[in-house]
Amino acid sequence: MTPPNNAQPPRDPQDEDELRHHSYDGIQEYDKRLPNWWLMTFYATIIFAIIYWLVDQHFPSSTDQSRLQAEIARIDADKLAAAPTALDDASLWKMSRNPVIVDAGKTTFVTYCASCHNAALTGGIGPNLVDDVWIHGGKPVQVLETIKKGVLVKGMPGWEPVLGAQKVAEVTAYIMSYHAAP
Ligand code: HEC
Repeated sequence: MTPPNNAQPPRDPQDEDELRHHSYDGIQEYDKRLPNWWLMTFYATIIFAIIYWLVDQHFPSSTDQSRLQAEIARIDADKLAAAPTALDDASLWKMSRNPVIVDAGKTTFVTYCASCHNAALTGGIGPNLVDDVWIHGGKPVQVLETIKKGVLVKGMPGWEPVLGAQKVAEVTAYIMSYHAAP
C-alpha cells in the first residue's frame, strides 16, 4: 500500500515498530509502544486514586465533621449575639447544647455566680441549680427570667442591668446544659 502523498518521509529500516494500516490524507502512523515512564506514571495515578478513595471514603477522619459542628456552633452563637432578645424554651434548650455558648456562659457563671451557687452549681448561699428542685420554675424561660430580675428580697441580685441580655442568655444556657432537654 503506497501512501498517496509523495512528501511522506521514507520509512526508517531500523524502526521495528509496525506501520498501522490506515492513512489519513496521506499521513500514516507507527504502532508505537508507550514509553515506560509514561505507563508507570499512569499506573501510579490509578493506584493513588484507589488509596485516596479508600482513605477518604472508608476511613474518614472525624476532623471534617467536628470542624463543621464547631463552625455551626460559632455561627449560632454569633446569631444570638446579634439578636439576644427573642428567646423561648426551644431556643434556650438549643443554646444549652451549643458548646460555644455554654463555654461563654460558664465564664460568666464562674465570675459572677459561683460565689453564691458554687462553681459546681450545687449551691451555697444560693440554691442548687443542677437538681430538679426549682423555687422559681425550671423551664428555660423561667430560669432566664429569675436571672434577669433576681429575687432581691432573698439576696439574689438581678443580673440584666449588670451583664446585658446576651450574657444572661448564655449563663442560662450554661445552667440548662446540666439538665436534660425534654
Ligand atoms: C449574692 C449571692 C448570689 C449571687 C452572686 C447569685 N445568686 Fe442566684 N440566687 C441567690 C439566692 C439567695 C437565690 C434564692 C432565691 C430565692 O430563694 O428565691 C438564688 C436563686 C437563683 C436562681 C433560681 C433558682 C430556683 O430554684 O428557682 C437562679 C437560676 C440563679 N440564682 C442563678 C444565678 C446566676 C446565673 C447568677 C450569676 C449571674 C447568680 N444566680 C448569682 C444568690 C445569688
